[in-house]
Amino acid sequence: MLLEWQEEWGVGDATLDGTHKVFITLLNKTIMAQEDTFEMAFRTLVEQTREHFAYEEQQLLSLGVVSAKRHRAEHRVILTEMDGYRIKALGGDVGLVHHYLTQLLPERFRKHTKTMDMDLALHI
Ligand SMILES: [Fe+2]
Ligand SMILES: [Fe+2]
Repeated sequence: MLLEWQEEWGVGDATLDGTHKVFITLLNKTIMAQEDTFEMAFRTLVEQTREHFAYEEQQLLSLGVVSAKRHRAEHRVILTEMDGYRIKALGGDVGLVHHYLTQLLPERFRKHTKTMDMDLALHI
């Protein structure tokens, strides 16, 4: 099942919302990818996320946001998890990885944007 952008996921900052929309698009591309393009699609998704997190962390630092440490820690957890599932996919755990991409990762995204990213956006 593919994800469709929901207005309620917006945090009120055009840059953050724009990048989050790209994330949803790349996630959908990964979910829809065929066997020969899956690895590249997943890798692109992880790299986009890594770059987006680096941007947010730079913002957290320059704006002196109190929740910066917790926010960064959540980023680390999400990236480690994404990398872990990318490796599981290489090992052929297709069902498990599909569940992650369609259920667990979208849930992570919703929770993280609603709490940590929303807090960052309030400081921008
Ligand atoms: Fe974040
Ligand atoms: Fe974000």
